[in-house]
Amino acid sequence: MKPFLFVTDLDNTLVGDDPALKTLNQHLAKHRQEYGTKIVYATGRSLYLYRLLAKAKLLLSPDALITSVGTEMYFDSNKEVCDPEWEKILSQGWNREEIVSIASKFEDLQFQPDSEQNPFKISYYLAQSVSEKVINKLRTALYDRGYQVKLIYSGGQDLDLLPPNGDKGLAVQFLRDRWNIAACDTVTCGDSGNDVALFIGEEKGIIVGNAKPELSQWYRENKHESLYFAKAACAGGILEGLKYFNFV
Ligand code: GLC
Ligand code: MG
Repeated sequence: MKPFLFVTDLDNTLVGDDPALKTLNQHLAKHRQEYGTKIVYATGRSLYLYRLLAKAKLLLSPDALITSVGTEMYFDSNKEVCDPEWEKILSQGWNREEIVSIASKFEDLQFQPDSEQNPFKISYYLAQSVSEKVINKLRTALYDRGYQVKLIYSGGQDLDLLPPNGDKGLAVQFLRDRWNIAACDTVTCGDSGNDVALFIGEEKGIIVGNAKPELSQWYRENKHESLYFAKAACAGGILEGLKYFNFV
């Protein structure tokens, strides 16, 4: 056994089956203590919503916390200080005000609550029935004005607009560089659209059995050796994948 970098989404991936979470936590806590394995959460939630979840569920304290779909990174989740180097990277090619003003022309987009907006993330609700059409038009409108904004649709309801340099996967690469951890010693886990970015690098990837249609569809079109689609849901699926890849 050797240390690895464990990265997981929270809602419907790590969290969703309490007994399975308890078992997985025992494995991870032991691995961290014995081998120095690092535990990182990469969630769509803001720090505010993360803290609510951490109060309600038994979560191990992470070695780093990536919130807001990769647009905020914390090395101490008790302090509200985002990593400044990461913020500098995110600011390239991004102009929040202008992007909001372009998106405001689209009536189908409804702003999410203030807590879910931040300097590098603009989030809306968007109905599934019109999502494809609206996303394509919005992408064109943004590109026409010179913005290569990332448009990430998750769970058939959430649309996040992110800087070209920001998403969960790029945040993990930044962490790997900082901690000097190879892709082959890294495993990422997820269930929905905003987790796709976790699966396009060289890292090992675990898609939980309860994955949302947008991620299952992506998997069918992008299967490769370092991706494992678990049978079990949530934390049970993660443990299944960790065993499959011989991490535990
Ligand atoms: C979380 C966030 C929300 C985001 C969604 C999908 O639910 O709170 O802002 O749109 O994840 O990424
Ligand atoms: Mg999720």
